[in-house]
This record gives sequence, C-alpha cells and structure tokens, in this order.
Amino acid sequence: MKPRIVVARPIFPQVLDKLSHSFEVSANQSDTPWSSASWTAALATCQGALTTGADPINASVLAACPGLRICANMAVGYNNFDVPAMTAAQVVATNTPDVLTETTADFGFALMMATARRMAESEHFLRAGRWTQWRYDLFAGAEVHGSTLGILGMGRIGQAIARRGAHGFGMKVIYHNRSRLNEATEAELRATWVPKPELFAQADHVVLVLPYSPAVHHTVGVAELGLMKPTATLVNIARGGIVDENALIAALRERRISAAGLDVFEGEPQVNPGLLALDNVVLTPHIASATTATRLKMAHLAADNLIAFFQTGRALTPLNEVAP
Ligand code: GLV
Repeated sequence: MKPRIVVARPIFPQVLDKLSHSFEVSANQSDTPWSSASWTAALATCQGALTTGADPINASVLAACPGLRICANMAVGYNNFDVPAMTAAQVVATNTPDVLTETTADFGFALMMATARRMAESEHFLRAGRWTQWRYDLFAGAEVHGSTLGILGMGRIGQAIARRGAHGFGMKVIYHNRSRLNEATEAELRATWVPKPELFAQADHVVLVLPYSPAVHHTVGVAELGLMKPTATLVNIARGGIVDENALIAALRERRISAAGLDVFEGEPQVNPGLLALDNVVLTPHIASATTATRLKMAHLAADNLIAFFQTGRALTPLNEVAP
C-alpha cells in the first residue's frame, strides 16, 4: 500500500505526477485555499503533506492527525510550522533551503532598486497619461551605487544580497545579525557588523531578510523607523509580521522615511488599504522566489523530501530530529 499524502495548494503537474508514483495523492488543485476545517480533515487521513508557507501545522492540527509523519514545506521560511509541537508529535518538518537563495537575493535587490528609483510610481504616472515634458526633478530618487546598504538578517539570502551590493554596486554594506559572521566571510562580502540601532541610523537602504518568529514580531516599529534617515528606503522580503505596518504607513505618509518596497504583508494576501493609498511604495505579492526554474526546484525538493523519508526513513533537508 502506498502512503497517503496531501498536497495543500496547486503545484507543477510534473511534480504531482512524480509524487503519484510513490503515494496516494489527494491534492487541492483549486486556487481557493482549503478552509482550516477542510485542511485538517484532509491531513487527518494522510501520513505526509506537501505544504506552502501559508498552511499551518500547529498543536491543534497535529492533535487531529495522529497518523501524520512528515510535512514538507515548499518554502525556506517555516513560521507556519510549530516545530517543537511537530517534534513532540514525532512529525518530521522540512523546508527548501539553498535552491532559492540567489533568485530571492535578485528580487530583494530589484525591489530595493525599484523603490529607490521610484519605478512603480513613475510607471503609474506614465500609464495615466500625465507625462507631458522633461523636468530636472521628475521622479528624482535615491542613489543606489556607492550608498550604504543595511541588511538585517545575514543568513544565506542576506549574504547573497550583500555580495551584489558590495561587489556589483560598490555599496558600503553594514549588517546586523544575532551571530556575527566569521572574519573571512565578512572580508569576502565586504560587510561590517553593527548594532541594530546603528544599522537603522546609517543605512540609505535597509533590507529585511531575517526569519520570522514571534520573538521578532514588529522588530521594525516606531522607534526603528524614527532612527532612519528621511531619505532612506526600507525593503521587506522576509515576513510581514517583522514590520509594524501601521507605524510604517505613518512614517511613509509623513515622509519620515522616503519609500518602502514590500513583498510580504502582515495580513497577506490582504493588503492594508493604508499602503495601497501611498505613492512612495512598491508592493509585490510575495514573489521573491518566483522564477519558473526556482519554483520548480523548490517543488521538486519538497517532493523529494517526502519520497526520501518514506523510502529511507530520512528526509533530505530536515528541520527537526524525530526518533524513528
Ligand atoms: C518564501 O517566502 C519562502 O520562505 O520560501
């Protein structure tokens, strides 16, 4: 008998096909996410699940799913997983590290450039037929090359962004992370560790790339925004909850900071109407890892985690240790 797995959201047909060779698959192939009751009911009949970052696996879900043995997230972030509760329930958790690092760094850099150079705002202006003549200050933005890039969260993606900034754009790179990088890595990235308040005060462009947990909820709020230069920009490609959105909206509205680029939101996929009303924001729908090639690699890695676990007892990229 093949193990039963559930696939929470639509994925590439070829990955679904691969999974069907090893598993009895029940898949939500509709664009409407399952309600929490349908999600738990589907999961309760399965030994494995392929999840996205929007599908919660917590103590109450686990209590309803005693047969569940592994959840493979198709995301590097896994704040939808309560990993200690999963370990206690002997459920393996996996994510998709590495395969999306460079693609996500590309997007973070692009969002920073679009924000600094006012690309969305100027495009809307052009499309609205409002461009009538050349002007010396038309959509004059902030310099990127040679400016100071502040990175909060210096994991794999933060380091890939640092490399782009220092080596490609001659930026001065400062970063803050709980643990400092070793000297050789700092030298290679040309990055300097600074205390968090200094990062906000000195950077021309702040990029948030830290993993989300309740401990970092609203890491960027009134105080941090108050430290930033009025000419500075803020980019968030991590998780919406890291930024106090209402404080950010007020800072942007009053031009206490210049602009923000956001790929993630506190209530996504709902977006705060206060953000939608602003000109000085670039808003994208959580697509930092979304190239076809990278999303395919992520889907394959999530699928391969499930296959490896059921064939060998070991997942490829586990987040926890579970006794066999
Ligand atoms: C996307 O946000 C991811 O965590 O992969």
